[in-house]
Amino acid sequence: MIKKSFGIIGKPLSHSLSPTLHNYWFKKYKIFADYSLLEIELSEIGEIIKKIRCSELQGINVTVPYKQAVIPFLDLILDDAKETLSVNTVSLNEKGQVVGHNTDVYGLEYGFVNKLNSLNSEQDKILILGAGGVSLSVIYALFKRGTKKISISNRTLKKAEDIRKKFPFVEVINWENLETNINSMDVIINATSLGLKNGDDFKQEFKDIKPSAIYYDIIYNPENTAMIKKLKERGIKTFNGLEMFIYQGQESFSIWNKIIPELDEELKKIIFKKLR
Ligand code: ATR
Repeated sequence: MIKKSFGIIGKPLSHSLSPTLHNYWFKKYKIFADYSLLEIELSEIGEIIKKIRCSELQGINVTVPYKQAVIPFLDLILDDAKETLSVNTVSLNEKGQVVGHNTDVYGLEYGFVNKLNSLNSEQDKILILGAGGVSLSVIYALFKRGTKKISISNRTLKKAEDIRKKFPFVEVINWENLETNINSMDVIINATSLGLKNGDDFKQEFKDIKPSAIYYDIIYNPENTAMIKKLKERGIKTFNGLEMFIYQGQESFSIWNKIIPELDEELKKIIFKKLR
């Protein structure tokens, strides 16, 4: 039997628990396969896609900073990937086409938006920090939920303005003005890579954040980013991206293997252990 190969492309990748997740499921469902970290440069994306085309690789996940950069190499993008122009999962279809999917939106809907529904009204103001691929998924998941007031702020203003062209209902806030605008926000979502294990962190303090605000970090490793720790100390309700990560992985696995894998207790235990 030939061993199947899967992996995740991105840079940096040392924080990623995708191999833990998928290798656990391969073992559980007796699939002869391996999932590895493929830390690559932008110039190497084409080579990786070629490997999928010739079945040397059976599928990949895509993470920061390549969720949009991967698209020109694909033959087809589907559903939520088409709506967001952000791809986090790639597969080969029965016609031999390399297909881009977005399972982040599904992950966000099940891992975060469901929680928001019980905590928060659709009229509340939501601020998204960051304008990369995952921000597009966040906006789309919130838009599907019916959220009316979405603002976005990004270090590079142009990328936030480009997002506004696709989603005109989004308000853009200058990165330099974040501290003075934070007090009007009910939900703040970190969709930047700030706070990622071994990476840079926020310079902002968010001193004037509303006591009733909810802070959601797409990052899951570390389990508590420096910002989450700071806000928790001030009594702010916080969530990390662990559930979103697991749900997006579940959907990717099901695209590649046609099995919806179970989120069992053993898997949760293994993941928590890795994060501590
Ligand atoms: P992807 O498309 O895969 O999500 P990305 O476009 O690199 O990846 O997205 C990373 C996000 O984190 C961007 O919003 C990026 O801001 P820029 O558009 O200005 O690059 C943000 N980010 C990364 N490092 C940052 C830093 N040191 N300060 C502020 N924002 C940062």
